[in-house]
Amino acid sequence: MKQVYLDTFGCQMNVADTDRMELLLFHSGYARTTDREEADLIVVNTCSIREKAEHKIYSLFGELRPLKERNPDLLFGLTGCMAQQEGERLVRRMPFIDFVMGPDNIETLPQALAEIGHRSGPLVWTGFDANKQYSIPDLGGPLPKHPGASAFVNIIKGCDKFCSFCVVPNTRGREKSREPGEILNEARQLVDRGAKEIILLGQNVNAYGKREALCPIPFHELLYRVAETPGLRRLRFTTSHPRDFTPELVRAYRDLDILMNHLHLPVQSGNDRILEAMRRGHSAEEYLDLIDSLREQVPEIALSTDIIVGFPGETDREFEDTLRLMERVRFDSGFLFQYSPRPGTPAADLPDDVPETVKKDRLQRTLAVQNRVMEEKGMAYLGREVEVLIEGRGSKREADWKGRNPAYWTVQFKAGGMELQPGDFTAVQVEAVSGHSLIGRAVAPALAS
Ligand code: 5AD
Ligand code: SF4
Repeated sequence: MKQVYLDTFGCQMNVADTDRMELLLFHSGYARTTDREEADLIVVNTCSIREKAEHKIYSLFGELRPLKERNPDLLFGLTGCMAQQEGERLVRRMPFIDFVMGPDNIETLPQALAEIGHRSGPLVWTGFDANKQYSIPDLGGPLPKHPGASAFVNIIKGCDKFCSFCVVPNTRGREKSREPGEILNEARQLVDRGAKEIILLGQNVNAYGKREALCPIPFHELLYRVAETPGLRRLRFTTSHPRDFTPELVRAYRDLDILMNHLHLPVQSGNDRILEAMRRGHSAEEYLDLIDSLREQVPEIALSTDIIVGFPGETDREFEDTLRLMERVRFDSGFLFQYSPRPGTPAADLPDDVPETVKKDRLQRTLAVQNRVMEEKGMAYLGREVEVLIEGRGSKREADWKGRNPAYWTVQFKAGGMELQPGDFTAVQVEAVSGHSLIGRAVAPALAS
């Protein structure tokens, strides 16, 4: 078999897309390698959400280029959101790249590889899939690998929210929901092959069922149905939008034991004028009301969020509203970003007038709040036992294993003489905290897995 080296940047959608490419390539005679030097094909699945992400890709290709000088048969592919956003410009800037394919073209990867053999110049495929329906067909046949203990299932693609700062509606196109039957089938197959947790995935999962499906059902209904998958132990979803959050979804958290008590709900800002300029479609108070009603019904729920500081025109006072919101909600974790203008977005037409030093300072202040809250939340776990689904080998302080607790904290732990393996559930006693990780040792034998 030929060898493919796959590298992924960006969000979980990209991780799932890379997995799909691995499967498609496996059916075209490529096995995945972790050694670039051995590869016949190198595919970099890119992100363009912030400018920094794009810089990383240019420097990576700078590093990869000499490999091609040594082996002229080596093929380079650039896929993902940056491919969609930059298209032809990429092959002009990096003419040694053989193909550029946007996220909506992944299914045609085998055809692209076949075509490259017959042409002299690079191939750039950035059209959007013209099918009204969103389907990820089951390819059947052998698989390159077993799913991990936790597996993603795509349920919706694209985004129709058009937040003013965001490239996603341009790079991933309009919202399309996958048929419920296809989703349930995939979940069942993954669990049959060993997955214990399913994470339903999409740019905006709680808009599920609103567009394009032949048999549309609302998102909460999909949760109830996936939860019935025999053998499934944990269910999660990401990412959601406050505007599509229904009372039925709050109820699903209360009713479904299998739906883990964690929610990632981006707020972006705590100030109403900025939220409006961001075109988020809700106020800070509406967000807080939602959190209150959720906490009323599900008191244990852990929350995480995304926040942007330094949006065009953001004053000190407006920024301080964001700090206040963070103090009020006390998120278990936060992804905090400095605003960066993205070409083609409405916000890019506004003057990017918050000086870099002010943006940096605001970022540090949000980090300080988040780190303090996280430390306090982490300390509350000390001495307690948490249930962990083991995902793989530990990566910290000589931990043997790592996994997640229901609230989605990473747990790194010593096996304590116990025979464990990925996919097992075990109780871990928490002995220390580091950032968003709990550190401890296994204290109870693997629960029935
Ligand atoms: N600048 C900074 N952060 C951004 N995000 C999206 N677009 C931008 C941008 N132009 C952040 C948002 C989003 C997360 C995935 O990335 O917080 O929720
Ligand atoms: Fe981007 Fe907003 Fe859609 Fe999220 S909801 S992907 S931030 S446009």
